[in-house]
Amino acid sequence: MKAKPLIDIRNISYAYPDSGRTKSGKVGAPVLREVSLQIQEGEHIALLGHNGSGKSTLARHCNALLLPDKGSVLVAGFDTREASNWQSVRERVGMIFQNPDNQIIATVVEDDVAWSLALRGMPAEQIYERVEQAMAAVGISELRFLPPHRLSGGQRQRLAIAGVLALRPQCIIADEATSMLDPLSRQEISQLLRQLNQQSGLTVVQVTHLLEEAAYAQRIVVMEQGQIVLDGPPAVVFTDLDRLRALRLAIPEPVELAVRLREIGIPLSDEAITIEAIARELEH
Ligand SMILES: Nc1ncnc2c1ncn2[C@@H]1O[C@H](COP(=O)(O)OP(=O)(O)OP(=O)(O)O)[C@@H](O)[C@H]1O
Ligand SMILES: [Mg+2]
Repeated sequence: MKAKPLIDIRNISYAYPDSGRTKSGKVGAPVLREVSLQIQEGEHIALLGHNGSGKSTLARHCNALLLPDKGSVLVAGFDTREASNWQSVRERVGMIFQNPDNQIIATVVEDDVAWSLALRGMPAEQIYERVEQAMAAVGISELRFLPPHRLSGGQRQRLAIAGVLALRPQCIIADEATSMLDPLSRQEISQLLRQLNQQSGLTVVQVTHLLEEAAYAQRIVVMEQGQIVLDGPPAVVFTDLDRLRALRLAIPEPVELAVRLREIGIPLSDEAITIEAIARELEH
């Protein structure tokens, strides 16, 4: 029997509120149209789609930042439509955004990791333990006494992740969390999210428009015009490159390389979608 999903999105539709032009308070076509998605505990999902396809809107439904007009979202069984469930929902699902500076509040790194715990009135000893652990998990322990503005972009994004981890969520949704970073930091943050998933069993939903990042996830979900149009493991999703191009997603270089290698007679499996995987297969 399949376990109950951690996040159960059931047939939701959503339109953004109007700025007061119509009586209904809603205008235009819905931005989400009857979307269903089940996210199991421990999954690492890449949520993809072209600009404006509805990724952020869907992500914000997962921790009750937005509520569906139709349908429902259950997080560990808690229905987000009930205001009394919001705290339970937000404890379980943490969000990281594009710009870490919007999530950084304190003037010293370790205080920043601690502030949301202090806000909840947690005892000092417990705060200390959680802050230590969260900083270690993202590799910023040695930066603890620095002011956040002295950190690099990648380090600041690590700090934002530590702040969320300190709350011990079951799931982290990273909404384009790497898109403001240089290529190296981008890879490092992606790797960190992967590591948190693999080592701590944290459920990770990585929102991105880069198929390159998605190749490392266990499951790729692609949105287009407010609907989910593809959902499967990367090795399967990458077998239909024409479809991905039609969805205006750039095919990663390693995937193009694998195609060319196959054309000249080098046998590679469908799993050969990252440089590491191609190298592994060529060695054998
Ligand atoms: N606050 C808002 N008010 C009104 N419309 C919005 C708002 N935020 C987003 N939209 C519209 O909703 C649609 C989906 O936007 P959304 O931000 O969810 O897409 P996205 O896939 O995250 O895009 P991107 O890749 O640009 O981040 C777009 O047409 C967008 O213009
Ligand atoms: Mg977005």
